[in-house]
Amino acid sequence: MAKRGKWGSKIGFIFAAAGSAVGLGNIWRFPYKVADGGGALFVLIYLASILLIAMPVLLAELSLGRATGRNPVGAFEAIRPKSGWKGVGFLGVLTGVMIFSFYSVVAGWTVGYFFKAITGKLTGISSEAAVNLFTSFTSDQLMQVALTGVFIALTAWVVSRGVSGGIETVAKILMPALFALLLLLVARSVTLPNASQGLKFYLDPDFSKLNIKVVIDAMGQAFFSLSLGMGTMITYGSYIGKKENLPSSAGWVAFFDTFIAILAGFIIFPAIFSVSGMAPAEAGAGLVFKVLPVIFAQIPGGPIFGALFFLLLCIAALTSTISLLEVPVSYFLDERGWSRKKSTILVSVITLLVAIPSALSDTFLEYWGFIWGDLSLGIGAFFIAVFVGYIWKTGNALKEIKEGTGEKTFRFAKFWIISMKYISPIIIFLIFVGFILSKFDLW
Ligand code: TRP
Repeated sequence: MAKRGKWGSKIGFIFAAAGSAVGLGNIWRFPYKVADGGGALFVLIYLASILLIAMPVLLAELSLGRATGRNPVGAFEAIRPKSGWKGVGFLGVLTGVMIFSFYSVVAGWTVGYFFKAITGKLTGISSEAAVNLFTSFTSDQLMQVALTGVFIALTAWVVSRGVSGGIETVAKILMPALFALLLLLVARSVTLPNASQGLKFYLDPDFSKLNIKVVIDAMGQAFFSLSLGMGTMITYGSYIGKKENLPSSAGWVAFFDTFIAILAGFIIFPAIFSVSGMAPAEAGAGLVFKVLPVIFAQIPGGPIFGALFFLLLCIAALTSTISLLEVPVSYFLDERGWSRKKSTILVSVITLLVAIPSALSDTFLEYWGFIWGDLSLGIGAFFIAVFVGYIWKTGNALKEIKEGTGEKTFRFAKFWIISMKYISPIIIFLIFVGFILSKFDLW
């Protein structure tokens, strides 16, 4: 087995895991899914999913990774050898490639918008012009594929050089800067005329909009945002030392991630009702790219802040794609004995080919995002919970979780066990059954 890297320190690990979690999922995907899902009701179901299911699954993945020191396929194999369980790991490796593909298209948009900002194309832009700009930008097919390729290559370059070091340092500088910029944008957005209409949409749930699609989307978004359900956190857990406190690290990561997504909503929703005539659900996957430039146009020094924002978003996306690519790469490294370089190049070339349809069509991108970014992650999370709850067993997992907590014990152990054995598997299962029934018009 190839020598495995280790994170530099506890805070280094938290930043690396938060770097994986915080990305386009928070700033691009969360607002557009909220818009699509009718607003506050989606937010409510999302938050419930984070607390009841996603946080416990995060801890399960980290402990599985740290206990086995392996990639997702190897982790299942280590605990239950020669069984079908490693299939869950394989599904994770495949899902990693698929998410990496459409994610890179959107990351390419951030690169494109960074250049638009520094060349003055966004200066003083009206909301109508911003919508047209997005449409013409995404219809330039050659440009779309090229930007996607640039982004995949950038990720491959970092991953081919190995785990720790780089990711931690980048995340440590980036996150506070991104956070500060988000606060500035919130301040501008909530003071725009008519902001209250957007706040109502975002914060006041309309229960008549409840349906199974909203539920499955909100739960899927909880997994997506915390990088769960495909083994990213198993892989990252395998790089954590035994002295680290897993529950507190997991708690901080979930807190940062959720907070940043919620902030993004406070930026987009007041603005969409105030400065753009669009209905939220109309904007589709282009939502933040259609709305953000208009907010920057209303801030003194807007073009500079705009350029900085898209640059930071691009780097936030990079710390996430690194974690996506790391899963298939660590699989080929550990299980197939390939070199890091060879694994990285092979996976990246395949990803670029898979990304082409998403680069050429928004509709395909949304569809692909739903299949891999919601459904597949839900399936993965279900099996991870069942595996930890019944095969590895919560007692063994708890031993691993408590390692490194020192004198403090894990306060939520009881709740965690109940979530692994009952809440997570049963709720995910029921939601999937409901979704399938609704597809066949049986419900
Ligand atoms: N969580 C990241 C984001 O919100 C994306 C991501 C990285 C991811 N690794 C993942 C999503 C693994 C699902 C699974 O942008």
